[in-house]
Amino acid sequence: MAVKINENYMLIKSNYLFAEIARRVDRFQEENPEADIIKMGIGDVTIPLPKAVVKAFKAAVDEMGEKETFMGYGPEQGYSFLIKEIIEKDYAVRGIKLDEDEVFISDGAKCDTGNIQEIFGLDNTIAVTDPVYPVYVESNVMAGRSGAMDEDGKYDGMVYIPCTADNDFTPELPETPVDLIYLCYPNNPTGTALTKDELAKWVEYARENNSIILFDAAYEAYITEDNIPHSIYEIEGAREVAIEFRSFSKNAGFTGTRCAFTVVPKEVKAYDSEGEAHSLNPLWNRRQTTKFNGVSYPVQVAAKAVYSEEGQAEIKESIAYYMKNAEIIRESLKEMGLSIYGGVNSPYIWVKTPEGMTSWEFFDLLLSKANVVGTPGVGFGPSGEGYFRITAFNTLENTKEAMERISKLEI
Ligand code: MLT
Repeated sequence: MAVKINENYMLIKSNYLFAEIARRVDRFQEENPEADIIKMGIGDVTIPLPKAVVKAFKAAVDEMGEKETFMGYGPEQGYSFLIKEIIEKDYAVRGIKLDEDEVFISDGAKCDTGNIQEIFGLDNTIAVTDPVYPVYVESNVMAGRSGAMDEDGKYDGMVYIPCTADNDFTPELPETPVDLIYLCYPNNPTGTALTKDELAKWVEYARENNSIILFDAAYEAYITEDNIPHSIYEIEGAREVAIEFRSFSKNAGFTGTRCAFTVVPKEVKAYDSEGEAHSLNPLWNRRQTTKFNGVSYPVQVAAKAVYSEEGQAEIKESIAYYMKNAEIIRESLKEMGLSIYGGVNSPYIWVKTPEGMTSWEFFDLLLSKANVVGTPGVGFGPSGEGYFRITAFNTLENTKEAMERISKLEI
């Protein structure tokens, strides 16, 4: 007798995409200690936390050190003071009504989008847009919802919906019915967005087919165009078919601080084997209360400060800073004759690799000749082959320097 592993882990690549990139970059740096590498690969922010956030954060840490104000375990779902702000300032202002027990504070949209599949049966069909944030796919593979990866780079049993320049990065509705649909808009990695009408088609599809949409809106703060929805609940009928994920990482610099939230409206239902419908809200609540003890009090106080007047002004400034970088990247690469997408409602620019060059070849070229790191499109799925992602999250100086270096390459 011996302990058995979860063999589903044998189906996935040994390294997570960003871990693999970090490994390659570290190796290159070791071999080229002089190289001044500019990282525009992982979507990590560079601007520090807003001052209003730091002030609130510090004051809350002080509270934790005093007998009178010390806090022990908080509610697993998050403190009401933060949930109320979210409901009022993110949703009510857009005409969306949410109850407090429909919002669950967490330590990241990555964790929530990875964990959410636990409340669904293993025999559900999963659909993802392709290219896609790897967490959606790999968390389902780990759980046993797929077979092995075929030679096209697709996991057997999963439905991939291609989003490429050929269809203007607009996913077509699946030909065969699917159960769970992961949508991320503004999109990671392509940086493109869906209009309200386009998203409404998905909500309608989900309603007609008894599907559920898992909507990742982590990049909503980067939306600049009016016809792009900030929340899926702006679409009529979405409350019955969609769960939404949001994060403080990309809008307020919480990548290292960790705070996010997930909205599970009580109307979203799934069925047991007898055909009886169950609200998913209590299921997610049960999952969280069993496996999660909540985000720390100071972090939630810090997140609340994001909604203060001062906090809002500061985050608007940082987002404008990153979007200026996005524009510089777009313009520079366009001038080089490359085809570029995204970067208008998102901090990601999706670049078509030069003729005849794969994503990883372009990655190697940029790393070795320009010492610039991006993310190979194929790392996000088979339809990402021939594309490359560059983030606008670096400093203005580094962004300009990176573009200058790239423009000198012969490509
Ligand atoms: C990315 O680079 O795609 C992001 O960092 C993903 C994430 O936030 O986990």
